[in-house]
Amino acid sequence: MSVVGIVPAGGSGERLGADRPKAFVVCAGRPLIDWSLEVLDAICDRVVVAAPPGWLREGWVEGGPSRSASVRNAVAAAPEARTLVVHDAARPLVTRELVEACVGALMGVAGAIAATPVTDTVKEAYPDATVLRTLDRSRLWAVQTPQVFRADSLRRALDVDEAALAGATDDASLVEAVGGSVRLVEAPPGNLKVTTVEDLARAEAALC
Ligand code: CTP
Ligand code: MG
Repeated sequence: MSVVGIVPAGGSGERLGADRPKAFVVCAGRPLIDWSLEVLDAICDRVVVAAPPGWLREGWVEGGPSRSASVRNAVAAAPEARTLVVHDAARPLVTRELVEACVGALMGVAGAIAATPVTDTVKEAYPDATVLRTLDRSRLWAVQTPQVFRADSLRRALDVDEAALAGATDDASLVEAVGGSVRLVEAPPGNLKVTTVEDLARAEAALC
């Protein structure tokens, strides 16, 4: 049973504003993506990365116009996979234990994804920032990667047009949209996503 890692790394990192795509910015002495690759390489049979043109290594594929398009390009290069482990290059603090917990939670569901219970109160608002309603926090989770899927479920979910891919903010939502069941796996604190310069400094401090 083949387990293939899928790493979307095709973004430009506009909000980070570095001199290169975010996945290749040096963080604690190595390209940001290499921290995630080290963890995935230990668990997966192989890993396919979707990277920007000009940043490809052997066996990698070009990213697409959206994150989900990049995921689809990488998934297309892994026809042998039975299980797909999708993990953003932007989350260098992922642990082997968290990936294994997601893989282990895949019994009987289409997907198992890392998430943390929301601790802030969350409000839904109108565009002018007046509050429409307060949501029931006890049922809310903030979702991360890794997101692990049965390969056939994710392939079916990704078989949509570019607009649907561009509108998806994570892979699980596409799987949910085609009726796939998804289980949440509570992640430890610290699996932060590098978006800004401040995040990069925080990740660097944690990895040194
Ligand atoms: N990603 C991708 N292909 C895209 C856009 C994003 O593979 N067309 C990847 C990024 O490289 C990153 C992950 O998806 O690993 C999460 O995206 P995000 O944190 O938004 O990264 P960027 O899109 O690079 O950053 P920004 O939105 O600030 O430009
Ligand atoms: Mg982005």
